[in-house]
Amino acid sequence: MDKFVIRGGIPLHGTIETSGSKNSALPALAAALLTEEPMLLHRIPRVRDIKTMQRLLVDIGSKIEVKGDTVCLDTPRIVSPEAPYELVKTMRASSLVLGPLVARAGRARVSMPGGCAIGARPIDFHLNGLEQLGAKINQEHGYIEAQAADGLRGALIKFARITVTGTEDLLMAATLARGETVLENAAREPEVVDLAELLIKMGAKIDGAGTSTIRIQGVAKLHGTPKGGHTIIADRIEAGTFLIAAAITGGDVKVTHCVPEHVRALIAKMQQAGVEITEPDASTVHIRSSGKLRAVDMTTEEYPGFATDLQAQYMALMTQAEGISIITETIFENRFMHAQELARMGAKIRLDGRQAIIAGKSDLTGAGVIASDLRASASLVLAALVAKGETVIDRVYHIDRGYEKIESKLSRAGASVRRVE
Ligand code: EPZ
Repeated sequence: MDKFVIRGGIPLHGTIETSGSKNSALPALAAALLTEEPMLLHRIPRVRDIKTMQRLLVDIGSKIEVKGDTVCLDTPRIVSPEAPYELVKTMRASSLVLGPLVARAGRARVSMPGGCAIGARPIDFHLNGLEQLGAKINQEHGYIEAQAADGLRGALIKFARITVTGTEDLLMAATLARGETVLENAAREPEVVDLAELLIKMGAKIDGAGTSTIRIQGVAKLHGTPKGGHTIIADRIEAGTFLIAAAITGGDVKVTHCVPEHVRALIAKMQQAGVEITEPDASTVHIRSSGKLRAVDMTTEEYPGFATDLQAQYMALMTQAEGISIITETIFENRFMHAQELARMGAKIRLDGRQAIIAGKSDLTGAGVIASDLRASASLVLAALVAKGETVIDRVYHIDRGYEKIESKLSRAGASVRRVE
């Protein structure tokens, strides 16, 4: 198992380029199941979750060609409408095939996801929604079986709470349902908008993506992507992680090929904390930090609020800010696993239910720490960049799930990060 060895204390300088969004690429790949025609997707990040999704799609019946960050998919026929436990347990986003499979093949068998390091994460909203679209759902032997032999029919679906992949799953299913579907209390995340734009290019009729109400008029068939394909949006969580890397090390970094609007909530918090931030062009955020930071409270929210996927990284930053900051996690019930590891490096963090109270500034020192999930590992990398001495981060396979070559990107900006086996 790979580890990262990081020597801290070096301010980052230079330019870091953002890759395509993992959480946008995952539903885009699943959307290939909706059509028998070829799909061409650009800017697919080369990370482990994407490889897992591609493996799943191949088992289902897709032929996939990968050239750099371009992926061509062709699914003339659904061979096996199934997502097995072996894959679903390593990646919950596998449930994104559920909607497309029922819509196109009238049948899906998907393993129940089971427990997760950041919370219970059920998929009941996906299942209730599919039932409302006319599917029959059965659960046995750890699997969900969904059937809609005569096809799906449009319905009004109101989500009990906002769900990102739930919105995406049902959006895909509804494109091939008979009549109109309305999704209320839908997720407004940029990844939902990107998926809707891809589906529209494939012939779907969708209105309102990016707002809380999405209307879909079902069509009989979707075609492949038009000539030129579809390019996935920038990964806002990766971009945000690099912005925090610059701020925490007292660096001067331009994060390029990103969408500043998508990290607005983070930028606002960092400006309050005393970091100088400009946007020299439409796809670059320039950050200059003296390393002197003020504590600023933060609460995670659905988009356009502060992303839960940047909470762990923000906590690392707040260990370096003067004063007390309170971080409130409202999306997941157990997303503070990084707090104990940060404490091993010298951070002063007290947990109280859904809140973390951080007393700064702490002089962090390098230590052996363990990555517990994707974003928790990113927060340990950030803490290590500013810690005195050497930090060894174990189980970096978590970080490989969602960050493309993070060690090379940080090293090019001057960081000392080594991957060892
Ligand atoms: C997506 O997960 C992301 N994953 C997550 O990114 C992200 O943390 C999360 O949205 C929140 O922004 C992908 O896009 C692949 P939710 P998702 O359904 O869709 C509850 C990362 O690090 N809920 O929006 O699974 C749920 O338990 C990952 O890249 C139900 O109760 O999250 C949670 O408390 C991790 N029933 C809340 O809703 C359901 O059926 C929001 O979850 C669905 C969700």
